[in-house]
Amino acid sequence: MTAHPATNDLSSAPSGPAPSMPVVAASRYGTAEVLELTERPVPTPEAGEVLVEVAASSLNALDWHFVTGTPWFLRLTAGLRRPKRTILGADVAGTVAAVGDGVTRFRVGDRVFGECEGGGCATHLTTPADHLVTLPDEVSFEAAGATPVAGLTAIQGLRTHAELQPGERVLINGAAGGVGTFAVQIAKALGATVTAVCSSGNVDMVRELGADEVVDYTTDDFVAGGPRFDVLLDNVGSRTPAENLSVLVPGGRYVAVSGPKENRLLGPIGYVLRMAIATWRSDASFHQFVASPDVDDLTTLAEMLADGRIVPAIDRVVGLDGVKDGLAEIGTGHARAKIVVRPR
Ligand SMILES: NC(=O)c1ccc[n+]([C@@H]2O[C@H](COP(=O)([O-])OP(=O)(O)OC[C@H]3O[C@@H](n4cnc5c(N)ncnc54)[C@H](OP(=O)(O)O)[C@@H]3O)[C@@H](O)[C@H]2O)c1
Repeated sequence: MTAHPATNDLSSAPSGPAPSMPVVAASRYGTAEVLELTERPVPTPEAGEVLVEVAASSLNALDWHFVTGTPWFLRLTAGLRRPKRTILGADVAGTVAAVGDGVTRFRVGDRVFGECEGGGCATHLTTPADHLVTLPDEVSFEAAGATPVAGLTAIQGLRTHAELQPGERVLINGAAGGVGTFAVQIAKALGATVTAVCSSGNVDMVRELGADEVVDYTTDDFVAGGPRFDVLLDNVGSRTPAENLSVLVPGGRYVAVSGPKENRLLGPIGYVLRMAIATWRSDASFHQFVASPDVDDLTTLAEMLADGRIVPAIDRVVGLDGVKDGLAEIGTGHARAKIVVRPR
């Protein structure tokens, strides 16, 4: 493996111990309390990888799952006794500091953003080059760092799986979180009419993001209006399968981004199966997926960020010392929009 020279020479240090960097990491499963602000060696890119100097990352519900090791079936791949993926942060925006063998799409100094398998809550990370795209100059690192996981989930749910068409009506359940705040804007950009569901304190924010109608689930019931939506993008799984199907018109599409978390062993799997069976018996279609760092979708998100069709809703920007509180908030299930992390 050869790492080509970095702007700051971190990856080409000739000898001695690798330079270290601050990170937020979890070496065992638990709540946000297990997170530590500690030091780790700066990684070196393998063939096909890029070393990124991180300007911004953000927190996702995904980080909560990896730190808590819940639902437990996740541990089959994430590490049975302790997490394999220890450094938080699946989003990255920053500058290429070095490239591994075979990487031709990027050069040192390029602005990039994308999804990584952890590592964003650090000053440097390595990630496969094909998880990154070029970041347009007009997009800030903070906006880009807020986008990858939540934006990819929203665009893949609406465009790839629901195949949302201009003029269609979409219901977004869980509109105030990371995925939901992108989904409202992307659905509008695709030409849909958007009804968004959130709690009272988030109604104004979601309306400002472009929702045509907002349902405050603490006082109103989105099920009460009967069949009127072509697509239900569900980030929560707060209703029964029959209730969800009752709001879809014939030929409607139900897209499960998530489901209820009460079952610590299997998480939303039981709910998703019940929803799939109910949909199979109806004239609606069922779509469940795990978002992936698709380069075409990341490129579309970059274009939408650049021309202002999406403007990430950022609740706050924190340093590495604010990650523990941010993750605890995500663990409540009521985080608001995005919490961006700037590691320096
Ligand atoms: N399939 C995939 O590939 C994929 C990818 C990313 C995320 N996910 C999953 O999708 C879910 C959402 O992710 P996220 O990043 O958006 O999470 P998040 O940022 O933590 O947001 C969760 C949101 O859910 C809302 N909420 C809670 N109870 C609700 C209810 N009864 N009705 C309506 N809204 C409710 C909260 O808003 P209020 O405070 O207003 O209640 C909160 O803003 C998570 O479970 C995550 O694990 C799946």
